[in-house]
Amino acid sequence: MSGAAADLRMLLGELGEEDVLIVDEAHALGLRGEHGAGVASAYDDARIVVLGTLSKAFGCLGGFVAGPTDFIDLLVSTARSFIFDTSLPPPIVRAARAALRRIVEGDDLRAMLAERIGHAAAALARLGLVDGVPGSPIVPIVLGETRRALAVAAHLRSRGLYAPAIRPPTVPAGTSRLRVTIRTDHQFSDIDRLADALAEALVGASA
Ligand SMILES: Cc1ncc(COP(=O)(O)O)c(C=O)c1O
Repeated sequence: MSGAAADLRMLLGELGEEDVLIVDEAHALGLRGEHGAGVASAYDDARIVVLGTLSKAFGCLGGFVAGPTDFIDLLVSTARSFIFDTSLPPPIVRAARAALRRIVEGDDLRAMLAERIGHAAAALARLGLVDGVPGSPIVPIVLGETRRALAVAAHLRSRGLYAPAIRPPTVPAGTSRLRVTIRTDHQFSDIDRLADALAEALVGASA
């Protein structure tokens, strides 16, 4: 919920020879790693199993698992959610392939996103809401009590800005937050509008 990446080097160091490390790359594929190949792509380690979704950077639906052949064979033979599920419709597969090509050649989009994340981080830091530049487009704005997070989210909504309040049990008590996601199609002016609305909301929430 914070947009932080796991420390794979440390986790791999904890593994035994027979273990696997399952890495959920839902929010990393397309964005992190060379050509957007995810955080695990930096490690040449046959114990890594990658879970990928096609629903985020790919803009489609469905997902995949990639890993050692034995492990994949086991899943194909025993994973109920795979065996009893309908396969992906061909148009979705086609769209995902097109998205994959764009992701592989997407350094321009990744640079645009980084610029927008930097702009958001600077605007939100001026309000004392974030500390540093997040390494991901998910910018958590931790507001504390649930009531405060809901009030700020409702204010944003009234200004036409959708930033849902994430609260316990999804996050620990006292760390309710807004989860803002920056996209390449956000203009700097959109981000400034968010910062202005947040500034207004915070005055209201502390009154
Ligand atoms: C970390 C993480 N993993 C997996 C998923 C599931 O993705 P999908 O909705 O494509 O099944 C999500 C969706 O929000 C997610 O945030």
